[in-house]
Amino acid sequence: MNEAHMKALRCPQCGKNLHLNGGFTPGEEIVDGQISCEKGHAWDITNRIPSLVYPQIRKEDAKWIAEYDEMAEKYDELVKQYSEFLGVDLMEERSNFSQFIPIEGPVRIIDVSIGTAANFMALYDSFKKQMGRFNLHGMDLSTGMLKVSQRKIDKMDFDVSLTYGSVFNPPYQSNFFDIVLHTGGINTFSDIHGALNEMLRLVKSSGVVIVVDEGLSPRMRKTDKGRGIIKANKLFEARPPLQFLPIKAQNLEVSYVMNETFYQMTFTK
Ligand SMILES: C[S@@+](CC[C@H](N)C(=O)[O-])C[C@H]1O[C@@H](n2cnc3c(N)ncnc32)[C@H](O)[C@@H]1O
Ligand SMILES: [Zn+2]
Repeated sequence: MNEAHMKALRCPQCGKNLHLNGGFTPGEEIVDGQISCEKGHAWDITNRIPSLVYPQIRKEDAKWIAEYDEMAEKYDELVKQYSEFLGVDLMEERSNFSQFIPIEGPVRIIDVSIGTAANFMALYDSFKKQMGRFNLHGMDLSTGMLKVSQRKIDKMDFDVSLTYGSVFNPPYQSNFFDIVLHTGGINTFSDIHGALNEMLRLVKSSGVVIVVDEGLSPRMRKTDKGRGIIKANKLFEARPPLQFLPIKAQNLEVSYVMNETFYQMTFTK
């Protein structure tokens, strides 16, 4: 991790800024070490990734994380199979996010459950020559997924600052990001309201939160194809979790993407 990455972060225990003992020398990348806050809460950096999970993961979330750790290396292949089952190229469809990117100027984006970095790979496909304008951050609670992300990103000519953290208490500064993105996990989160609240905390007042997960459109539910999808995987029964939106969320828009198999909620501060 480098100094710019650390400045985006905050102590997940007390919310104070973090620092590296002795400070960073210009351009320095820390591979293994420790950062801490002024209260002395210390956090490890392992293989360039800071570990900022606090408090402990709940049992019901830990069960899912163990599954993601287990499937991390096979995840991209599984998504391909999922695409065939749904009749939609889930990778190709991610380029739909580019509509939320301002047409010029610097853009800070965080993917709060980065998985295998698929959203940033899609961003690259759409913005190859402009990647220099993006300041990209990726967080995940699965070390297996982070490892796959890191390996993929290392082969690319853009960088993503990776953090081991939880969407229930993301260790980032408030009002920091232009785009806060979450795809694919929220339906099974133990505290959906808490996660959405935190996503709203991270976004700037001029920014947008984008949340996408399995959930068929009302039209698709009534078709044979839709019924077949739900029969094969109950997750697609989910509806946009509007009841868990933060009270302060504004400009809510709900639509259906991935050939009407996933809902998309966008909202602002
Ligand atoms: C279905 S995968 C989606 C990955 C990626 N966003 C995508 O669209 O391909 C769900 C991801 O959510 C992550 N996740 C689950 N609970 C989390 C939490 N509390 N905080 C951060 N990430 C979490 C999992 O580790 C996994 O990488
Ligand atoms: Zn602290």
